[in-house]
Amino acid sequence: MKVKLGHIALQNPVIPASGTCGFGQEMSEWFDLNILGAIATKGTTLEARYGNALPRIAECPAGLINAIGLQNPGVDEVIAHEMPALRKLYRGPIIANISGFSIDEYAYVCERIDKESDAAILEVNISCPNVHNGGMAFGTSPEAAAEVTKAVKAVTNKPVFMKLSPNVTDIVSIARACVEAGADGLCLINTVLGMRIDIRRRKPVIANRYGGYSGPGVFPIALRMVNQVSKACPGIPIIGCGGVSNAEEVIEMMMAGASAVEIGAANLQNPQVCREIIEALPAVMREMRIDHLQDIIGIV
Ligand SMILES: Cc1cc2nc3c(=O)[nH]c(=O)nc-3n(C[C@H](O)[C@H](O)[C@H](O)COP(=O)(O)O)c2cc1C
Repeated sequence: MKVKLGHIALQNPVIPASGTCGFGQEMSEWFDLNILGAIATKGTTLEARYGNALPRIAECPAGLINAIGLQNPGVDEVIAHEMPALRKLYRGPIIANISGFSIDEYAYVCERIDKESDAAILEVNISCPNVHNGGMAFGTSPEAAAEVTKAVKAVTNKPVFMKLSPNVTDIVSIARACVEAGADGLCLINTVLGMRIDIRRRKPVIANRYGGYSGPGVFPIALRMVNQVSKACPGIPIIGCGGVSNAEEVIEMMMAGASAVEIGAANLQNPQVCREIIEALPAVMREMRIDHLQDIIGIV
């Protein structure tokens, strides 16, 4: 089940996605985190953030809408407490997810995490749909995406994976802009902008009105985008994310072009899902005569 994600060796491709496992503490009550391929931590910003007003989750038939709004304790606290606490529980690669409201903030937070933590990869979220004047604003224009990539690359030697938004007409143009600006890898997709209305209250369910939809309903969209980007940017490592909830879908995502796979909303429904997927993978590989997962990356 070993895979290479750029130059980083993972014991398997299964990674809980940013925002769905905090900094690992709660998930570690369900299983030993050391079975994971890697772990992607909650999006970290310069300042502590309380996030958006409640309600900020709306359940949907094939997933959920969230508008958490990047709630996190801020980079000082993440470096001083969250990362060391995670390290006590987990020896594998940490993917530090970073967000910002300006290019300078992205660069500053990345530089701090680079110098003051032992994260293996910086995953730069230019795709959060739940904050104003930040996040997704940078991921919906090739020029802005390239600018963030360049600014971050200038302050770190760690691999930089840009996390892309599906809320664009042409995902390939954004992916190419990031790669040309020096990105070492890409992660896609973040959530799809959506809405639910409480028809009895005649109000949006989410206090923030709109939120990011994810879960099984977005899987075909994520798969298509991973496949398009992997064909357009050959050789660039991709973390596939969006709607994955079982071992077969991990394999499907890898055949589309992903070197590793993040699991998001599925953790909220079943906190053991990453463990169950890792345990199920060998039998699915045997059934499909796959000797090494590394061999199937991008074969379709
Ligand atoms: C509750 C929640 C919080 C999230 N927080 C973040 C975040 O802080 N940073 C980020 O890059 N993505 C965040 N995401 C997006 C996920 O990491 C993932 O890209 C997306 O949900 C698609 O995967 P899924 O369909 O498996 O959920 C969040 C998703 C959910 C459901």
